[in-house]
Amino acid sequence: MSIRLPPARTFVTGGAGFIGGELLALLLADGGEVTVFDDLSTADPDWSAPFIDEPRLTFVRGDAADPTALAAALPGHDRVVHLASGTDIAGGFGHPERDFVAGVVATEAVCAAMRQLDIRELWYASSGVVYGRPPRIPSAEGDGPLLPESHYAAAKLAGEAIVSGFAHLYGWRAFAFRFGNTVGSRSDHGVVHDFVVKLLRDPRRLEILGDGSQAKPYVAVRDVVAGMRHAAAVAPARPMTVLNVGPEGTLPVRDVAEIVTAALDLSIASVECAFTGGATVGGGGWPGDTAHVEFDTTALRSLGWRPSMTAEGAVRAAALGIAARYRSSRRPLLTAAERRAASLVAVGSTLG
Ligand SMILES: NC(=O)c1ccc[n+]([C@@H]2O[C@H](COP(=O)([O-])OP(=O)(O)OC[C@H]3O[C@@H](n4cnc5c(N)ncnc54)[C@H](O)[C@@H]3O)[C@@H](O)[C@H]2O)c1
Repeated sequence: MSIRLPPARTFVTGGAGFIGGELLALLLADGGEVTVFDDLSTADPDWSAPFIDEPRLTFVRGDAADPTALAAALPGHDRVVHLASGTDIAGGFGHPERDFVAGVVATEAVCAAMRQLDIRELWYASSGVVYGRPPRIPSAEGDGPLLPESHYAAAKLAGEAIVSGFAHLYGWRAFAFRFGNTVGSRSDHGVVHDFVVKLLRDPRRLEILGDGSQAKPYVAVRDVVAGMRHAAAVAPARPMTVLNVGPEGTLPVRDVAEIVTAALDLSIASVECAFTGGATVGGGGWPGDTAHVEFDTTALRSLGWRPSMTAEGAVRAAALGIAARYRSSRRPLLTAAERRAASLVAVGSTLG
């Protein structure tokens, strides 16, 4: 069931990113106006191509942790969607300040700017990783205590708490959406993207971080943004609503490898899978990897939302789309970590 929102003026931090691109299309289709506020730190250089002739879309380059930039760009909006954040969970190891600024400082700055202008609707991008190693699987929104296992997850959970404080004090209607592992053809990070890149480079060998047993809730990006819109349209008016957004069940990483391999017309039997083993306590693939995230999605389903694709279907469609994008462009075949490392080297040589 797809429910449209009444047209509104929406301010989307991080709107030039992967999930942002899909959300813009939806909000514009509803007849609204959208401002993308993004520092372009991890955005695809072509992010705006689908919207080039769209007069209802405005772009402002700015940092979501910068109160002055927010105060200049935010007036005139009815709603804020706060997506801006780094997504490099592994890269946070040894750099706790990155996730603190992205998750805590920026979220506080966005909320404070909203309060100044009396904007009262906020959709906050949280993550299933806030559950850490939860007391119950599948995990429901009311479960706790939540003990995050990475700086990224801790910052996401702190962001939820910041939003909740503002929402309760100032009469807001706020949502924290705990996304599953979101996949789509425009994804440029995450395991599906990285497996496609590795297999296009070498179809005979696939390095798999961890022991392959890590299990996550993979969800199509279009279902994620439809779920946000659906909840905002129909959820009862409360200061703060927290919702898991994903499928029921999970896929282990070794199954993701098999689905991606098949999508590329390869047989898993002919690919040498090189597992790096349980790199961390708990069997995750890297320090900070939350090895098992599984959602109880009763809350969002009871509002009438259903994902249009299974986790398997979402992963397969994403793998096909990502591969097609690389094959039809001159993009270098780099995993997300390799791309980040290359851009850091480029910045270093510019500065040097
Ligand atoms: N993709 C997933 O699987 C997933 C899962 C759970 C939660 N999330 C959350 O959803 C949100 C969007 O994720 P995504 O996958 O689209 O990531 P993305 O990296 O594609 O997009 C993030 C966007 O935010 C921008 N940005 C980063 N820091 C900024 C700052 N300080 N100021 C302004 N702009 C900034 C980047 O340039 C980028 O365009 C993030 O908050 C992420 O943590 C994503």
